[in-house]
Amino acid sequence: MTPFHLHHKTILVTGASSGIGRQTAISISEMGGILVLTGRDEKKLKETLALLKGSGHQLFAADLLIEQQRTDLLEKLPQLDGIVHSAGIVKTLPIKFLDPEKIDETLNINYEIPVLLMAGIMRRKKLNAKASVVFISSIASQHPYRGGAVYAGAKAAIEAFSKSISLESSNGIRSNCISPAMVKTPMYEMSEQKVSKETMEAHIKQYPLGVGYPEDVANTAIFLLSEASRWITGINITLDGGYLLEK
Ligand SMILES: NC(=O)c1ccc[n+]([C@@H]2O[C@H](COP(=O)([O-])OP(=O)(O)OC[C@H]3O[C@@H](n4cnc5c(N)ncnc54)[C@H](OP(=O)(O)O)[C@@H]3O)[C@@H](O)[C@H]2O)c1
Repeated sequence: MTPFHLHHKTILVTGASSGIGRQTAISISEMGGILVLTGRDEKKLKETLALLKGSGHQLFAADLLIEQQRTDLLEKLPQLDGIVHSAGIVKTLPIKFLDPEKIDETLNINYEIPVLLMAGIMRRKKLNAKASVVFISSIASQHPYRGGAVYAGAKAAIEAFSKSISLESSNGIRSNCISPAMVKTPMYEMSEQKVSKETMEAHIKQYPLGVGYPEDVANTAIFLLSEASRWITGINITLDGGYLLEK
C-alpha cells in the first residue's frame, strides 16, 4: 500500500468548519483517515461532516477561546494519530493602533490556543506513537505585510513552537508547519474586500502559478500526516505558487 495513505489514522482538524480546515478534513477522509472535526459553527461543521468519505467521524463544536469549551473538547478527544491546527483569524491593523486587547485578539487564536491544545493533549497522553502534528502558519511569518504585525508575529511564534514539539517529543511523534501565501478561502475573500480591485490584481500577478486553493494545502498536510514523511520533523513547507521567488 502507498505510504501516503491515512487508513486507521484518527486525525483532529481545528477550523474544520471553513476554508483550509474543511478541505483538509475532506481530503484526509478521501485518504482513509477518521476525522475529529472542531470549529465554532456547528451548522458549518455538519456541512463538512456530510462531505467526508468513510465512517466513524466525530464533530465537536467549540469556541477554543472559551476555557470550558476547550477543556470539554480535550476530555472528549479520542487517541490521535494526527492533528491539523487550522483555526485562525487575520486582522489588519497598523502598529500605531495596537493595544493589549487588539494584540490578544489576533495572538490568542493564532498562537496561544494551539499551544494550549497541544499542552492539554500531551498532558493527557492523547497522541499515539508516530503521531504527526501540522500547524497552518503563513508566509507572513517571514515576509510580514503592512498592518499584519501581530498576525506575522503569531505565525512566527507557532513555527518556533512546532520545532519545540519536535524536540520534546518521543515515540516518533513529529511536528511540522505549512506556510501558504494567498489561498482562496473565506479569509481570502475578506482580505479581497479590504483593498481595491487594482491592488488585488497587481498582487495576484506576482504568483507565477496563480494563487492557491485549499486542496493545495490539504495535499501537503496529507503528506506530513502520512508515513511518507516519517523522517521529517521541525520543518516548515512554503506553498506560494512561486510568489516569493522575486522577493
Ligand atoms: N486563506 C489564506 O490566504 C491563508 C494564507 C496563509 C495562512 N492561512 C492560515 O490558514 C488557516 C485557515 O485559514 P482559512 O483561510 O481557512 O480561514 P477561514 O476560512 O476563515 O477559517 C477559519 C477557521 O478558524 C475557525 N476559528 C476562528 N476562531 C475560532 C475560535 N475562537 N474557536 C474555534 N475555531 C475558530 C473558524 O471557525 P468558525 O467558522 O466556526 O467560526 C474557521 O473554521 C489560518 O490559520 C490562517 O491563518 C490562510
